[in-house]
Amino acid sequence: METILIVDDEKNYRVVLEALLGSEGYETITAENADEALRQVRKADLDLVITDMKMGGMSGMQLLEESKKIKPDLPVIMMTAYGTIEMAVEAMKKHAYDYITKPFKNEELKLTIKKALENYRLVKENRLLSEALTDRYRYGNIIGKSKSMQKIYDMINKVAQSKASVMITGASGTGKELIAKAIHYNSTRKDRPFISINCGALTETLLESEMFGHERGAFTGAVAMRKGRFELADGGTLFLDEVSEMSPPLQVKLLRVLQEMEFERVGGTRSIRVDVRILSASNKDMKEEVEKGLFRDDLFFRLNVIHIEVPPLKQRSEDIHLLVNHFIEKYKREKNRKDMTLSPEAWKVIYNYHWPGNIRELENIIERAVVLNSSGIIGIEDLPEDILGRKEDLDVDRFVPLNAPLQATLEQIEEKMIRRALAKCGNVQSHAAQMIGITRSLFQHKMKKYNIVI
Ligand SMILES: Nc1ncnc2c1ncn2[C@@H]1O[C@H](COP(=O)(O)OP(=O)(O)OP(=O)(O)O)[C@@H](O)[C@H]1O
Ligand SMILES: [Mg+2]
Repeated sequence: METILIVDDEKNYRVVLEALLGSEGYETITAENADEALRQVRKADLDLVITDMKMGGMSGMQLLEESKKIKPDLPVIMMTAYGTIEMAVEAMKKHAYDYITKPFKNEELKLTIKKALENYRLVKENRLLSEALTDRYRYGNIIGKSKSMQKIYDMINKVAQSKASVMITGASGTGKELIAKAIHYNSTRKDRPFISINCGALTETLLESEMFGHERGAFTGAVAMRKGRFELADGGTLFLDEVSEMSPPLQVKLLRVLQEMEFERVGGTRSIRVDVRILSASNKDMKEEVEKGLFRDDLFFRLNVIHIEVPPLKQRSEDIHLLVNHFIEKYKREKNRKDMTLSPEAWKVIYNYHWPGNIRELENIIERAVVLNSSGIIGIEDLPEDILGRKEDLDVDRFVPLNAPLQATLEQIEEKMIRRALAKCGNVQSHAAQMIGITRSLFQHKMKKYNIVI
């Protein structure tokens, strides 16, 4: 039960408020002056203070200030007589939760109290969670306490000590590289290099020479001998990022090198032996790539001795709190800002958003908010437009039925989308088609299918 402290030097108000709030199911404590109220703030487990502004002795304003010193988060609602609105504004500046004017309407008071309590509950939950941000949930700098992350920590632990190849798959920004590093830094190879190479970023020839190095004069521009990443990683770990992007000829070559751990630099004849542990990552479904014939199955089996699948952020929303707090801390420190928290509205947006860019996107958004914010409370105005407005995407989880026939349900949704797009675009088919991202002819085809006539 929530406990509300009522502070007023007029007995009548105390009695009325006690009765009103009691009937709403709250526990009430009363104080007839600010000194007594402060004693209660100190010792009782309160959820809300509601105080008169003008009182004999210490004023409500002073009580507000003192109470904020003792319990900064405890919400305080001010009651002011009509005509002292400047004081109410002053109180808001001093972080009163809200004010109401006397005489008040019961409904208005009840609503204000309800909102204040809800807000306080959220603030408390946040605090508990940030306190839980201990080493227990950390693996190096990987944050997350969800079941799926705990499974990943176990895997990291188990595989770190072996030399087995590990393939890490998951959507963009889910932390694949971070996990690869954790494997390396928890292994006996940790004092040797961790070298990564992005297989998607280079042309085939460049990638080959990046991987295996080249001799002087091997090709135009090769003015000096250069060691490749395989050599640089000797004794350590080589991380093949975006491994699915490797061309078929290079896949053949890599397979051979992995079998023998021996290769020549481009343009060279001497074979070089290395001891390298291979980790790889992809945001594609590698099995599917193999089935489609885009990735060699023999190479896949070599790389995929152990498989770690990193789930998208949306599927581990228990981690969102920890991650947000972690990134606030990180960027607050980096940018020399004071303490910051998120407003309940901002939390709501963050929880409901679908996070297609996963943790990278979350990190960017928090960094941006820390830069933009000056009040110490990050609100929705500090969040980018596009994460605020995407209602349709947000609610998918909620409105998709659990056990309806798939095809019929999809068709129902499709028909609705087409009708709504038309309505929204004044029946201009080309615009409507564009709005939902299909061609005009496909749009017309579907209109026919659903007997939509305009
Ligand atoms: N669990 C986590 N805890 C803390 N930070 C994380 C976590 N996961 C990812 N990050 C951060 O998010 C960003 C993206 O992570 P990372 O580069 O590892 O993702 P990725 O899966 O390799 O993405 P991509 O497929 O786009 O290469 C990095 O800045 C990383 O530090
Ligand atoms: Mg990556």
